[in-house]
Amino acid sequence: MSDNLATLNDGTKAITMGVKSGTIGPDVIDIRKLYAETGKFTYDPGFTSTASCDSALTYIDGDEGVLLHRGYPIGQLAEQSSFMEVCYLMLNGELPSADELSQFSRTITRHTMVHEQLSVFYRGFRRDAHPMAIMCGVVGALSAFYHDSTDISDPEQRKISAHRLIAKMPTIAAMAFKYSVGQPFVYPRNDLSYTGNFLRMTFAVPAEEYEVNPVVERALDRIFILHADHEQNASTSTVRLAGSSGANPFACIAAGIACLWGPAHGGANEAALNMLKEIGTPDRIPHYIARAKDKNDPFRLMGFGHRVYKNYDPRATVMQKTVREVFESLKVTDPLFETALRLEELALSDPYFIDKKLFPNVDFYSGIILSAIGFPTTMFTALFALARTVGWVAQWNEMISDPGQKIGRPRQLYTGPVQRDYVPVSER
Ligand code: SDX
Repeated sequence: MSDNLATLNDGTKAITMGVKSGTIGPDVIDIRKLYAETGKFTYDPGFTSTASCDSALTYIDGDEGVLLHRGYPIGQLAEQSSFMEVCYLMLNGELPSADELSQFSRTITRHTMVHEQLSVFYRGFRRDAHPMAIMCGVVGALSAFYHDSTDISDPEQRKISAHRLIAKMPTIAAMAFKYSVGQPFVYPRNDLSYTGNFLRMTFAVPAEEYEVNPVVERALDRIFILHADHEQNASTSTVRLAGSSGANPFACIAAGIACLWGPAHGGANEAALNMLKEIGTPDRIPHYIARAKDKNDPFRLMGFGHRVYKNYDPRATVMQKTVREVFESLKVTDPLFETALRLEELALSDPYFIDKKLFPNVDFYSGIILSAIGFPTTMFTALFALARTVGWVAQWNEMISDPGQKIGRPRQLYTGPVQRDYVPVSER
């Protein structure tokens, strides 16, 4: 990285700080010595202007609507790659050869079963427990089963736990769905693809054979690719912060799942479809757009807007195209898709959304296609977590492998009372 300098005058003295450049994207001002030299912190709630780490995994240009994974554009990966290949790319940095890919797929496939005791956990939940509540609990519990891959100082154990997490998330998610509908768990099969296995574990019943629909398999695999990783988003930052204390990878991923659940983040796909269901028909869209613009109304267009994208989210483009392809192929329609298209059209012609650069994001269309495949809305964020696990473990591993890595410990601007003496209750 090339270095040049930035000077800051804090009113008492000028200090010089290094400016670092990455391969592409904004330079960063290295403020690590700021407090030692000025006694002042920077102030950046929500980290809108803060780079928390170096990373070579994913690059986003929010103004241009660019998303690269290890340099490859998301549109090319979604069209030409597979989720397994993208997992290999995120973990290893390069696209695999045919042999490398088949070996990697075989390794992942042979980790898809979960310890039989783990299935007992599910029985502790109410049948109507949200799948994300189950995912938080069960993934965190994996640390109790896989002690042989929790030594984070051992690269080999880090690799095994990464493979285990990628491999077992579909099984855990499918079991959460089966539990919620009162159907028996379906074991994984080694003769199916990663995504085909997940579809079968989710939708097969013992009473009949289950055939994986190749159109659905391809569409869902592409949806997993679109959700694989996304720079330092809230849940990835949560995983990194949890990992910076030395917590084991299963606990870190459970923390990421908890953060992803929020409706401002991964929970938006469930919220977006529920919003479209509430809107119902296109004639009701103006009322909801008015509500979204009303400062006194907490309602927001779910699936719209993004902290980084101030242009179209490239994932939403692929997602919309995939909806059309799947609907054509399966000869299905969904009036909510028409409502979503009309909502996008009206919002993107409204000065409020244009001025605030609010575009559809990855969550706006995903629910429509997941619903068409047969998933209930409560499973949407669990699918997001399933796909994002490779990003989380890749980011976690990148951090742990960094020799300069420290425990994350932000400071604050204190606004509470100055020091005062305790007053016994008899004198209050
Ligand atoms: C994901 O970070 C990632 O990369 C996340 C993600 C990933 O792959 O990990 O991309 C996945 O989380 C996508 C985002 C899913 N969330 C939603 O769709 C929920 C609806 N969107 C908003 O809550 C919001 O847009 C956020 C949370 C996504 C982004 O919020 P910001 O960047 O903090 O923006 P903001 O809240 O400061 O809003 C800026 C302005 C505000 O108006 P003003 O106060 O300036 O007048 O835009 C308005 C907001 O009120 N606004 C919206 C809006 N989103 C922002 N108004 C109406 N509808 C919306 N959806």
